[in-house]
Amino acid sequence: MALEIHSKQLSAELEHLTSFSDAPAPAVTRVVFSRVDLAAREYVKSLCAMAGLTIREDAAGNTFCRWTGEDRALPAVGTGSHIDAIPHAGAYDGTVGVLGGLEAIRALQRSGFQPRRSIELLLFTSEEPTLFGIGCLGSRLLSGSLDAHAAGDLTDRDGRKLDEIRGAAGFSGSLASVRLPNGYYDSFVELHIEQGPLLERENLALGVVTAIAAPASLRVFIEGEGGHAGAVLMPDRRDAFLAAAEIALAVESAAKSTGAVDTVGTVGVCEVFPGAINSIPSRVKIEIDIRDIDLVRRDAALSAVREMCEKVRDKRRVEIRVETINADAPAQSSPKILAALTGACESVGLPFLSMVSRAYHDSLFMSRIVPTAMLFVRCRGGVSHRPDEYSSPEDIAAGALVLAETLKRLC
Ligand code: HGY
Ligand code: MN
Ligand code: MN
Repeated sequence: MALEIHSKQLSAELEHLTSFSDAPAPAVTRVVFSRVDLAAREYVKSLCAMAGLTIREDAAGNTFCRWTGEDRALPAVGTGSHIDAIPHAGAYDGTVGVLGGLEAIRALQRSGFQPRRSIELLLFTSEEPTLFGIGCLGSRLLSGSLDAHAAGDLTDRDGRKLDEIRGAAGFSGSLASVRLPNGYYDSFVELHIEQGPLLERENLALGVVTAIAAPASLRVFIEGEGGHAGAVLMPDRRDAFLAAAEIALAVESAAKSTGAVDTVGTVGVCEVFPGAINSIPSRVKIEIDIRDIDLVRRDAALSAVREMCEKVRDKRRVEIRVETINADAPAQSSPKILAALTGACESVGLPFLSMVSRAYHDSLFMSRIVPTAMLFVRCRGGVSHRPDEYSSPEDIAAGALVLAETLKRLC
């Protein structure tokens, strides 16, 4: 029996999920372990329970919704993504992979298909770096890419530890128990919006992801000297913000000077102390995000930024401390999963673009422990991490259909 995606139901579920937000519509803010995140998790779990999936949660809040296969001893086929959202984001980043993954499973169920391998839908916890400063916290722990002890020391901006916050959210138990045993999954596929403009430019709904770019992020603390904005003359100043400004411009020039358009650099966080118009900044913290699909180029950009920090320190007589939050290798998709994805696209007659993901995803870390690939869905204007992020019901349904066909092949 042909697989059929119930697009209206999927769109309604995506729409309802946006109601769990700490920002007024159309923006979505859903920070991990917040009240709205926990409510959203309950909603998704209720949908999975209605589909007859067996649900478990681990100590970090990763959630596993399993359709048990005929041979439950076999390693499972995994799919899924995240539902946490950065402040003032959109409705589709991550959620398309969770609810689209659920709809793919329901379509298989409706068709009477019985999987030999279990199929497991994952809701990864804390994919966004918003609360603890590092992205993909849940999948890093699942894959053993982040030491559980180090993770326990992560804190939010107020200094509250991960263990305290996750405990208050109802997730207890040791973080060391999160790591999956070897061979837990046979394969993993993540459905996600593209978060870029290529599919729209090619007038294609779907992209098959061949690689995921290498993300890195730094936290830079600058200590200068404060003082009265009127009384302290310019030659006597050690202005921490101007030092930060020079470093921010160095991030831009480091990214632009690698000779490749694939290197990107962003300073998305800048905290100025004391933050008064008539007071010279004495302390500044900035957070830097640098990525490239090529590891050597990415690391060259990181080194250029570090060198500039030393130059600015000497020139402006300020103290500068640079912390590496993460510096991850890129991921190559598994040929096995790529073949299943491209075969599924061909079997339903949907063209696709082979492409690289410049955003990182939980698949970056799942690829460390299991053959992995991603399927992208076109998003309007390539816009993401903004309230006007949008993917059409037709494109999302196409993604869910190809995902269902792919899962069918893999399990
Ligand atoms: O930043 C990223 O690439 C992802 O959207 N968290
Ligand atoms: Mn995101
Ligand atoms: Mn995402």
